[in-house]
Amino acid sequence: MTDVSSQGPQKGDNREVLTNRQGHQVYDNQNQRTVGERGPATLENYQFLEKISHFDRERIPERVVHARGTTAFGYFESYGAWGDEPIERYTRAKLFQGKGKRTDVALRFSTVIGGRDSSECARDPRGFAVKFYTEDGNWDLVGNNLAVFFIRDAIKFPDVIHALKPDPVTFRQEPNRIFDFMSQTPECLHMLVNLFSPRGIPSDYRHQQGFGVNTYKWVNQDGDTVLVKYTWMPKQGVRSMTAADAANVQAHETGHATKDLHEAIGRGDYPEWELLVQMMSDDEHPELDFDPLDDTKTWPENDFPPKPVGKIVLNRTVSDNFAENEQISFGTGVLVDGLDFSDDKMLVGRTFSYSDTQRYRVGPNYLQLPVNQAKNASVRTNQRDGLMTYHQDKGGENPHVNYEPSITGGLREGQFPTHDEQGPEIRGRLTRKRIARTNDYKQAGQRYLLMEDWERDDLVHNFTDQLSQCERPIQERMVWHLLLVEDDLGKRVGEGLGISPQDVAHLEPLASQTLTDEDRERLANLG
Ligand code: HEM
Repeated sequence: MTDVSSQGPQKGDNREVLTNRQGHQVYDNQNQRTVGERGPATLENYQFLEKISHFDRERIPERVVHARGTTAFGYFESYGAWGDEPIERYTRAKLFQGKGKRTDVALRFSTVIGGRDSSECARDPRGFAVKFYTEDGNWDLVGNNLAVFFIRDAIKFPDVIHALKPDPVTFRQEPNRIFDFMSQTPECLHMLVNLFSPRGIPSDYRHQQGFGVNTYKWVNQDGDTVLVKYTWMPKQGVRSMTAADAANVQAHETGHATKDLHEAIGRGDYPEWELLVQMMSDDEHPELDFDPLDDTKTWPENDFPPKPVGKIVLNRTVSDNFAENEQISFGTGVLVDGLDFSDDKMLVGRTFSYSDTQRYRVGPNYLQLPVNQAKNASVRTNQRDGLMTYHQDKGGENPHVNYEPSITGGLREGQFPTHDEQGPEIRGRLTRKRIARTNDYKQAGQRYLLMEDWERDDLVHNFTDQLSQCERPIQERMVWHLLLVEDDLGKRVGEGLGISPQDVAHLEPLASQTLTDEDRERLANLG
């Protein structure tokens, strides 16, 4: 007798028939095979075992940071020049050559600390990672919505992330752990002043900026190099939320930013960002009070005016979240001819970390997935095999030759550039040193002074709220730092915590810190 729940196709039902991955038709998807109606299941139950064992493997490790995110697709359009100055004067990267030249892109927005299903209302930097599928291969510009970062040396990254992630015992994000680390790491002050202001909770992904944060280089046809920093400005404008606004949104929806992006693109309201580039000559710039390779600093716009070089337009959301968002893989090492690294100590560490984690998270052949492939370039390698090989990369004419060099039809090397790179010559002993011009407080103070009153009020409120959950010695150290950032900020947060400047005057600078004359003057006035 046939079970009622598996009645086969109804008359007039023309839908496609369900199969398994071997192409076998599934004629009963409700009942597994058993010996008799109430008897034990059998081990040769292929269809059931395939279904359940694939399900058991549906999840891959989530990203160790930036786990929650969404991806959209579109194009980058180059302006070709700013004013009468062609971009090719500074970079030979093909995607920038010629007005109106278009390149396909993918852009993944994300939050950093929470897991894959966490709230998009969190106070957290937002990721802004762009993949350009250029004719010379892929270029990834992996940025955030805030212009600076917490630390300036990659060796500290696991520590800063551990401090920000949930407590290993309570699994709760604990302000005491965060500010314990931050109060011992004054280079993070500039980032904290941004993160605890309303900019720390963008209203959604469409109304946020993007920044490359690290310093890169551009290289022109002659091999001349300049240092560059990248900024993305949303044509939609920048909008932020206070903690109270965010709590309101979160009460109803934890994925509001993804929803907003899908809805906007769905109704044809395509979001756009303009790409601006700041440049400086490729040297140490001893005249500046910061190091151009320090990612806790911004470059003053008056001295280094941002130049618009193109825009990005997003016109498609993912067709499948797992294939195109979960598995998409960005990295700072993914550069094309005409773009280069600087010696920024964060950038070097990042560049190792991304492809390393992706070989673990997605698998060694992650670059064969459609969303990661260099789809507008031709890929020909002698890399072969490995877990989940989907196809063999194209080789030379002779399929037997998967090595180089060969005289029997294998691949050959490309042509050497006709010139040497013209960047600065670098000599030195192997050493472990912090950079000399740390200047941890000045730009943080300038940022505070530039804020509108309501932003300053929100910043003071957020610091006070979080620090009130910390132990007294940590509160005191943070007030000490905030007084060095700007008297008014330190005093206001101190008042909220019942800590006066005199209470913290006895604290010493950290051994790992260099203070400027201006910092010392502020320090002398504390008591
Ligand atoms: C994602 C490492 C600093 C922006 C990641 C991932 C790792 C990582 C391991 C996960 C990648 C994946 O699973 O696919 C590091 C290290 C850093 C660093 C070691 C410092 C040494 C930064 C900075 C920025 C940044 C300064 C901002 C400019 C991002 C973004 C993503 C990401 C946007 C998400 C990319 C995506 O959407 O898939 N980072 N990161 N990271 N990181 Fe970093």
